[in-house]
Amino acid sequence: MEAAADRVAIVTGGSRGIGPAICRRLGKNGTIVHLAYANAQDAAASVVAEIEAAGGRAFAHRADVSVEAEVEALVDDVVDKEGAVHILVNNAGIIEDALVALTRLAQWDRVLRVNLTGAFLMSRAVIPAMLDERWGRIINISSNSVRMPAAGQCAYAASKGGLEALTRVLAAEVGRKGIRVNAVAPGRIKTDMTAALWAASGVEDGENRWGLPEDISGIVAFLASDEADYIQGQTITVDGGRLVGRQRAARRPS
Ligand SMILES: NC(=O)c1ccc[n+]([C@@H]2O[C@H](COP(=O)([O-])OP(=O)(O)OC[C@H]3O[C@@H](n4cnc5c(N)ncnc54)[C@H](OP(=O)(O)O)[C@@H]3O)[C@@H](O)[C@H]2O)c1
Repeated sequence: MEAAADRVAIVTGGSRGIGPAICRRLGKNGTIVHLAYANAQDAAASVVAEIEAAGGRAFAHRADVSVEAEVEALVDDVVDKEGAVHILVNNAGIIEDALVALTRLAQWDRVLRVNLTGAFLMSRAVIPAMLDERWGRIINISSNSVRMPAAGQCAYAASKGGLEALTRVLAAEVGRKGIRVNAVAPGRIKTDMTAALWAASGVEDGENRWGLPEDISGIVAFLASDEADYIQGQTITVDGGRLVGRQRAARRPS
């Protein structure tokens, strides 16, 4: 097994939001980063340039994670170039909020296809390479919406609930082969995905602050490391305490 510095990672959704922070953090550890994006070519190129400027190695690939052939071409490209894939971060995601009664099937399908099917396709594609190494890390970016969904998040919360179930199934299937599969569930993080919300929220003080992509990247890098060897099939919430605060408020006598 390579030293940590020579490991190869694929990070989906590496062009905007939480993904670039994960790419930079892994790149800083010496991991070779292959990031995938759907549309934002210039943003992806900037992330690559930043990692290279800091002395790391990175490459950008256009690949829609919801398209089987594009996923397979992406993983084949990386394996051809590097000879291995050690780390996969399934971070690409979309949100399209609508109440259940108003959700069109096409909306539901789009969200499930990117957030859940995309992670399934990516994981299935990298597992043979990880089995060859008898070492691997798959980290799925879920969401607190699974446990405290807002109205209108039916497709999004269902996709992330499915992603957490996929995390546990994969952990059970490949755990004995040196592969660790875990999920991180962020709370509200300041990115393009939530721009309308944080612009309107006005909440910026200490305990109530919005999270930043860098609040997520550290735990992802840890789960991608050797130190996380005994963590398997878990979902780690990173939400600044919002979930526990909600539970405390619910228990308070009226
Ligand atoms: N922000 C939050 O508050 C929050 C909270 C909980 C969980 N999350 C999760 O964290 C992850 C990242 O979210 P974010 O806030 O960083 O979102 P974002 O700023 O909207 O960025 C989304 C990223 O996913 C990529 N992407 C979207 N569809 C894709 C597809 N079909 N194939 C490949 N890449 C695709 C985008 O690429 P292009 O730009 O190139 O299209 C972009 O890089 C998502 O899974 C999201 O559900 C976010």
